[in-house]
Amino acid sequence: MLRPLNPSLPPWREMRAWIVGASSGIGAAVARALLERGAHVALSARSADGLREAAGAYLAQGTAVLEPLDFTDGTAVAGAWKRVAGRFGHVDLVLIVAGTHQEIRAWELTDRDARALLETNLHGPIGTVAAIVPGLLAQGRGAIGIVSSLAGYRGLPKALVYGASKAALINFAETLYLDLRPRNVGVYLINPGFVKTPLTDRNRFRMPHLIGADEAARAILAGLRRGDFEIAFPRAFARQLALLRHLPYRLYFAAVRRATGL
Ligand SMILES: NC(=O)c1ccc[n+]([C@@H]2O[C@H](COP(=O)([O-])OP(=O)(O)OC[C@H]3O[C@@H](n4cnc5c(N)ncnc54)[C@H](OP(=O)(O)O)[C@@H]3O)[C@@H](O)[C@H]2O)c1
Repeated sequence: MLRPLNPSLPPWREMRAWIVGASSGIGAAVARALLERGAHVALSARSADGLREAAGAYLAQGTAVLEPLDFTDGTAVAGAWKRVAGRFGHVDLVLIVAGTHQEIRAWELTDRDARALLETNLHGPIGTVAAIVPGLLAQGRGAIGIVSSLAGYRGLPKALVYGASKAALINFAETLYLDLRPRNVGVYLINPGFVKTPLTDRNRFRMPHLIGADEAARAILAGLRRGDFEIAFPRAFARQLALLRHLPYRLYFAAVRRATGL
């Protein structure tokens, strides 16, 4: 058997996790799944109401704590990290789930929209990693999970800037792994396919292999437990897109046009 790529995480009951982007969708579902398994979880996003709803009864029980913030604000992230690490003593896992989506085609592209999308989907995660790495290295353990997307594998229609932000995050996570794994800090790259959340509820096209947020959370927890570097799901869709990744351009472009009609 091959050894897992990441150091093992503690049992869920002993886990201290910080989830950035926990007020809805995938992040809220992962927060709930961890809380149900007895973990202590700090939940962050801009909407305090959304965070309170995601934390539910675990807030009163004291296993959930709320840290509302905008993760593109480096000072806010640094302050929250200090409080979370101080409260928990150490942090086993920081999951950076927050992100946004906007359909953009070539003739709709504006510098303003592109910058706004990149600010959230790229600078938000990278700035958050910058704020936490010194603390994780000082702990000598812990892990970072970054939510990218299967849409980051290759160019897809309507994902002109979104896809670029997610492709960049994949590369970022790979390089982060090479730096941090030898220092006993794990890195997980999480690549979901289509998950039913407020973000995809806006889509007007048929989403193949669409799954619910709770199923996505289960896939993420299973991947974390296995110590995988990449956690890509749903499996069948991820496998199809991984194959497409290796096609020569002539075949790839034809396959995408056939599949999307665009
Ligand atoms: N759903 C899918 O099919 C799918 C597929 C592949 C990848 N993904 C990725 O999965 C992640 C979660 O998406 P989702 O579908 O669960 O969408 P969602 O329900 O819209 O959740 C997005 C989360 O990010 C938070 N967020 C956004 N901007 C933020 C900011 N500036 N500061 C702090 N938090 C912020 C939101 O909270 P506030 O608005 O309260 O700040 C919310 O908690 C995203 O990175 C997305 O790209 C989703």
